[in-house]
Formats: sequence, C-alpha cells, structure tokens
Amino acid sequence: MTGRLEGKVAIITGGGGAMGGAQSRRFAAEGAAVCVADVNLDAAQALVKEIEASGGKAIAAQLDVRQADRWAEVVDQTESIFGPVSVLCNNAGANFRVGFEEQTEEQWRTIMDIGLTGAFLGIKAVVPSMRKAGQGVILNMGSLAAIRPGGGSPAYAAQKMGMVGLTRSAAHSYAKDNVRCVIISPGHVDTPFIRGNNPHSPNDWSTSIDNPDNFNRRLSGTPLGRLQTPDDIANAFLFAATDEAAMVTGSMITVDGGAGM
Ligand SMILES: NC(=O)c1ccc[n+]([C@@H]2O[C@H](COP(=O)([O-])OP(=O)(O)OC[C@H]3O[C@@H](n4cnc5c(N)ncnc54)[C@H](O)[C@@H]3O)[C@@H](O)[C@H]2O)c1
Repeated sequence: MTGRLEGKVAIITGGGGAMGGAQSRRFAAEGAAVCVADVNLDAAQALVKEIEASGGKAIAAQLDVRQADRWAEVVDQTESIFGPVSVLCNNAGANFRVGFEEQTEEQWRTIMDIGLTGAFLGIKAVVPSMRKAGQGVILNMGSLAAIRPGGGSPAYAAQKMGMVGLTRSAAHSYAKDNVRCVIISPGHVDTPFIRGNNPHSPNDWSTSIDNPDNFNRRLSGTPLGRLQTPDDIANAFLFAATDEAAMVTGSMITVDGGAGM
C-alpha cells in the first residue's frame, strides 16, 4: 500500500463483479474510501467484508445503474459517510452475443440502458459531489468494441462506441470543474462476463471461453500472448484516477495486449 488514492472517495459500479471488484480492492488498498455499488447486493457486501478485513474503508450499495433516483441516494449515502465523491468508475455492462438478425429490441435496450444510459446517469449524479470535492475523475469501461466493433452484437458495438462520445462530452463539459473523464478499453479479460452464464451476460458453449475454440481465438488475437486479468485493468484505472494522470482527459487507454492494433 502506497496511499496513491489517500483522501479520495470512489463509487465503483459493477463493484461486485470481476473488474469492478479488482478496482475496489486496489483503490481501497491505496487509501480510497470505496462505495461498492452493484445490482447484486450479496456480491457487493462480500467484497466490502474482504476490504474491511484488509484494513480498508468500504460500504456496499444496491444500485441498478438504470435508476436515477437510486443514483441520487447512493451518492448521498456515500457523501454522508465518507465525504464528497472524487472518483466514479462506470463498469456495469451487459451483452447478448447474437447478431443483427437475432438481436431483439429488448436486448438492445438492456445493453444500451445498463452500459450507456447507466453511465450517463452516474455522471450526472456524481458531478455535483465532485464540485464540492473541488476535483473529480470519471472512468468509463470501454472494450475492443469501442475501437473496432465487429459483426457481433450490434447493441454492444453501439454501447461501447457510444462510451467514447460520452467520455469526450463529459471531459469537455466538466474540465472547467477540474473533473477529468477517461475511457479504459480492455481486450479479452478472463471473467464471468465472457466465461459464465449470467443474466446480464449469458454464455453457452457456443460463446463461452470454456470452449477452447473461443479461448484460443482470443488468445491468438492477442500479440502479448495472454488474456488480461482484472488486475491488469485495475492498474490502468488506478493510474487514471491518480494525480499522475492530471493532464489525461477525453482520451482512451487501451489495456489489451495489443489485440486492438
Ligand atoms: N470480460 C471482458 O473480456 C470484457 C472486455 C471488455 C470490456 N468488458 C466490460 O467490463 C465490464 C464489467 O465486466 P466484467 O468482466 O467485470 O463482468 P462481471 O460479469 O464479472 O461484472 C459485471 C457486474 O455488473 C453488475 N451489473 C449488471 N447489471 C447491472 C446493473 N443494471 N446495475 C448495476 N450493476 C450491474 C453485475 O452484477 C456484475 O457484478 C462490462 O462493462 C463489460 O462490457 C469486459
């Protein structure tokens, strides 16, 4: 622990998941007070116990990022316990891995609502708190789909490309408030999102990386020769959240082993 985030207060959505969880652990270990926010309260609470057992400061909040009223409550709760919010990590996302012909309107709306509208609502909810803090950093979760979306899920392509626009819009709008906004794009990260079968990201044998064909296709598309871990991505989130990145805003950091080249 080196205290790189000492004094910061972070809300991390999808905090009960793999990448949000790695960020929550890492940020708390570096001195931040963390609100682990997830629609899955059990997962968020389990992580908070773990962080507290390691001497970190954290609270759990049940948050469906699609609900503006819950965003307001979560920001208020975090602020009343830890003080004004200075970091927001928008991780919550969804995908249904079917192409244009098969993707339903409901699937489209779910992907866009959780990934893009959820991040928009989060930014609107935290900026007033960041103004009180006198500074802020908003970190949006990108993807290879934010660089070169292929012919898979159209809503996922639109959501992640949309995240680039949202990041630049927030970076322009809030620079005057000393608030930065950065998008961080992982490559293939070995998490339940691409391995498991969860309601927000269903996989079966045809899509899961449990299937060696799917795993090896991703591996061979990664020049550095391995899939990423949630910690690889948390390291970039950490850098972007610190004052070492004081002049980084509106930009994308890729952490993909070269997969997006
Ligand atoms: N795993 C990969 O290869 C990969 C690569 C690039 C980008 N991503 C992105 O990373 C993000 C997180 O993925 P992960 O790999 O950690 O997956 P994960 O499934 O482990 O985590 C996702 C978390 O989001 C939560 N969540 C789902 N719907 C929510 C909602 N409406 N409100 C709040 N929380 C909600 C889930 O409960 C879960 O804890 C997603 O945005 C995904 O698109 C993943």
